[in-house]
Amino acid sequence: MNKVAQVLGMSPMRVYEVATFYTMFNTVPIGKYNVQVCTTTPCMLRGAYDILRACEEESGAHCGGDSPDGLFHVMEVECLGACANAPMMQINDDCYEDLTPERAKLVLKSFRDGKPHKPGPQNARKNSMGIMGKTTLMEEPPAPYCREL
Ligand code: FES
Repeated sequence: MNKVAQVLGMSPMRVYEVATFYTMFNTVPIGKYNVQVCTTTPCMLRGAYDILRACEEESGAHCGGDSPDGLFHVMEVECLGACANAPMMQINDDCYEDLTPERAKLVLKSFRDGKPHKPGPQNARKNSMGIMGKTTLMEEPPAPYCREL
């Protein structure tokens, strides 16, 4: 961080402020799999704290720390932009959505077993479509309005 400050020609404190504020920066080494559980309002209303507890139980890590085997780092984060599929968590670069405590534990177990589950919704739905499939915007869109014709 001191080197970054030097290269950018700014006070080291400015770099420390950024590095300690944003959760995507870590100032110390963390577990191999960074489990970030979103607890912002939409996810919280859908049981995010139950997901967080399930991740702590399955990994053996306390929120903000690593598991004893060094495999998992569990943390609480703000909105990760998958609110329509709440509750969700991100593990390294992938999102796991539509979680229940049981599904969250299965996802962590799959990482421990070396065969990570496919990212995305962990129920039957596709992307952020309703569970019953596509129900709107099915027709061909009308041609754009053109006042010259
Ligand atoms: S509130 Fe959890 S992803 Fe947005």
